[in-house]
Amino acid sequence: MDFVEHLKASVDIVKVIGEYVRLKRSGPRWMGLCPFHTEKTGSFSVHATHQFYYCFGCQAKGDVIKFVMEIERLSFYEALKLLAERHGIPLPKRSDYSDPETKLRAGIFEMHELAARMFRNALASSAGADARGYISKRGLAAAEIEEFGLGFAERSGQFLARRFQQDGFTAEQMEASGLVLKRQDGSGFYDRFRGRLMFPIQNESGKIIAFAGRALAAEEEPKYLNSPETSIYRKSTVLYNLHRAKEGIRKNDRAVLVEGYMDVIGVYSAGIREVVASCGTALTSAQVRSLKRHSGNIVVNFDPDAAGANAAERSIQILLDEDLRIRILELETGLDPDEYVKQRGAEEYRKRLDAAGSYFHWLADRARSRHGATVEGQMAALKELLPAIHRMSDKIERAAVAEDVAHYLAIDRGIVLDQFRKAALDRRERGAPEPAPTSVPPMEKILLNCILRSPEIQTGVLARLQALGAAERFATRAVFAVLLQLSESGQKIGFSELDARLSEEERTLLLAAVLADEGSEGTDCRKQAEWCLEKLESAGREALRAEVRTRLREAERAGDFAEALRLAGELNRMDSGAPR
Ligand code: GTP
Ligand code: MN
Repeated sequence: MDFVEHLKASVDIVKVIGEYVRLKRSGPRWMGLCPFHTEKTGSFSVHATHQFYYCFGCQAKGDVIKFVMEIERLSFYEALKLLAERHGIPLPKRSDYSDPETKLRAGIFEMHELAARMFRNALASSAGADARGYISKRGLAAAEIEEFGLGFAERSGQFLARRFQQDGFTAEQMEASGLVLKRQDGSGFYDRFRGRLMFPIQNESGKIIAFAGRALAAEEEPKYLNSPETSIYRKSTVLYNLHRAKEGIRKNDRAVLVEGYMDVIGVYSAGIREVVASCGTALTSAQVRSLKRHSGNIVVNFDPDAAGANAAERSIQILLDEDLRIRILELETGLDPDEYVKQRGAEEYRKRLDAAGSYFHWLADRARSRHGATVEGQMAALKELLPAIHRMSDKIERAAVAEDVAHYLAIDRGIVLDQFRKAALDRRERGAPEPAPTSVPPMEKILLNCILRSPEIQTGVLARLQALGAAERFATRAVFAVLLQLSESGQKIGFSELDARLSEEERTLLLAAVLADEGSEGTDCRKQAEWCLEKLESAGREALRAEVRTRLREAERAGDFAEALRLAGELNRMDSGAPR
């Protein structure tokens, strides 16, 4: 078996995708919210028997390797490698699948691993004394330093550069890594990070893809220096700590979003495992979607200053667009999450999290404090709130919020509801209709699934279909034509063999049939197929009878009584010979 086939046969697609998307079982397939487009009800399905995924909403589809490529933004070879490593399957030595771009990226990944190791060692060495002092001043314990892989970038400027050269990384790899910079005079490279406390940034599968370096002295600028975008690091798609937090996010069915690296470490270490931060950028919808794969609930806990509040307000818009249920925690003491946990303790912080209120109360408070309690002020506050609430796509939730806001701002609810009806109308005009799923007639669906599911009946069923000539009238005749070909030439018949031989359009039919399959492990396919074949046979006989009847009537009309008699006899024989 080819390695790719071997790998696909050894991993369970439901398990692999299940680590990125919450899936619920529904017959032979699993359903969930599509990770590739924004939706509120699940159109994304994963088929366990045939080992593929398909989204009815955006038509994303493929096998387990394609999924890993798309979700982790990896090349084909990198996806193979990730799956093989995770499942303890040795990769073939000669990497036939690797292209130059992949090889370059492999080098960059390697340089990041090496850099992280060197930063960690430096922190423990004599050069790291200042950094260790700073860390203990910030109240970080050894366990946290270890867990988050913190390190120190030496000041020399040749710390990584020299090592990369010694280890034989090429100039191209060095330049592409973002970890070292080319000297102006072209005489070599020097380190990007110098004299900084280093935070590794990992992707969802835990691979180090970038670093953030914090200055040790208060006056040093910038406070945080980040890796630039590279071919392995796209800022807008990465959330700090997601690979550690995702289990906690699922378990607690909520994510906690904070602003800073130190906040993540402080909150996580206090036992709140579901905490993440965007990496020094404004929150993006790609980041929100990667959270939504694990939970639909979020608590936003930004810094208690004006910048933090503004960032929270911007985040709300993006979170609403992705249909998350949002709560806001504002720590009134002027402490950021990290400081709060350290001063008040984990329990107190958890209580505050659990009691965090809905985002629109928070927005209403902010608007009210800006506009005052006069009638004009209340209306101005409402106007400010409306755009955020209009973004909610759920009608019932929106109406509930409308009521609540009216009550909260003490505005006549008629006025508020009126505003909402207008918004609802706009929405309807804007909304695009969902694409209708392709449908396959039930009989064809059953036959197709029976044939695919049980190899032992394939030849028999296909031979009888062939004899009946019934498949030629099927909506899925192209699919059956390929099935017959495969059967005639004695080849293996399975979903992927079939899929590989179909056009795009035919493939959609096959998918529709397979995804609509209600059968389960215990289904008696032989019996089901038998039932279909009998139906088809009796339908065939009925069609024949109808034809003879028509010819009989024509013969009578034409006065050809000899022919009419002959046909009447034929019809008689048919009726007595075959059970209805
Ligand atoms: P401490 O100040 O050490 O407690 O860190 P913090 O993580 O609490 O930082 P702060 O609240 O000042 O900022 C929040 C986040 O914004 C940081 O974690 C960074 O991601 C980002 N940030 C802050 N300052 C800078 C900067 O100078 N440059 C960049 N690129 N990002 C920054
Ligand atoms: Mn801080």
